[in-house]
Amino acid sequence: MSGDYGKNPPLSYNSYLRVQDLINLQDCRSDPAHHDELLFITVHQAYELWFKQVLHELDAAIIFLTNDKVSSATRAVHRIVEIEKLLVNQIHILETMTPISFLAFRDELNPASGFQSMQFREIEFSSGLKDESILGEFGSDPFAHDRLSRRFTSPTLADAFFALLERRGLTVIGTNEREKRGRAILEILTHFETRYEEFQLAEALMEHDEYFSLWRSHHIKMVERMVGAKRGTGGSEGIGYLRTTLEKKFFPELWEARTYLDSDHGRSGCPFAGQ
Ligand code: HEM
Repeated sequence: MSGDYGKNPPLSYNSYLRVQDLINLQDCRSDPAHHDELLFITVHQAYELWFKQVLHELDAAIIFLTNDKVSSATRAVHRIVEIEKLLVNQIHILETMTPISFLAFRDELNPASGFQSMQFREIEFSSGLKDESILGEFGSDPFAHDRLSRRFTSPTLADAFFALLERRGLTVIGTNEREKRGRAILEILTHFETRYEEFQLAEALMEHDEYFSLWRSHHIKMVERMVGAKRGTGGSEGIGYLRTTLEKKFFPELWEARTYLDSDHGRSGCPFAGQ
């Protein structure tokens, strides 16, 4: 395991993963450094690394779908879901910090906030939830604004999904886009055995939406436990604002279709009955 390699030492674990750089990226602002600030920074940085991986998979899933590689797209979304399960659980590590410990360095964070997480917004945009007002919030951060603008004008995972269904002749009936999409989902949910590939993909997308939403709920509970109804460091009302985000959905049609699904499919209005 050791030897004289001159100027070119062999690749090592630490050099490949750039561990020296990585463990030097946690700059505590409290002085003297508060014990729990390292945890606070580490948890947030770990989130950002996983967000990067989620975006990598999202981009791949969109390309796979565009090229009709449905199983590969589904696999990519499954990986996203597994990461999201971890992201929900990661909140509990932060909850080991007591509220009074957090208050000891919270003021140092002003006016920074998770609200400004560029990659979180990129995930929202590329999944299907674009919001121009959010884009506007990044006006003073050209790097983030540039990345978000590109995603704002690019097809989303939801676009790629419905484009696939259209190519497969599933979005033909309905008076408007929403109805056509809804009926396509009903067809998939009803005939899940014959439409198994589409069904598995739709379920994976649903899980992506569900776990992202579960993260939102857990985050709110953690925020309330930590700071009650105090205003956020980003300037919002805090939990009051966060609660308004709970109903956000990447694929509203997937959720809505459940309402119109019936076991009498075919006789009671299935647009695809008999096909
Ligand atoms: C002690 C821990 C935390 C507290 C007290 C907290 C508090 C808050 C508050 C009050 C907001 C509303 C915006 C504002 O006015 O600041 C917010 C938003 C947000 N936080 Fe946290 N947060 C914590 C941890 C985290 C962690 C670990 C993440 C992981 C990345 C995170 C990500 C976000 C995101 C993405 C938003 C924007 C949500 C949206 O607009 O939909 N936060 N947070």
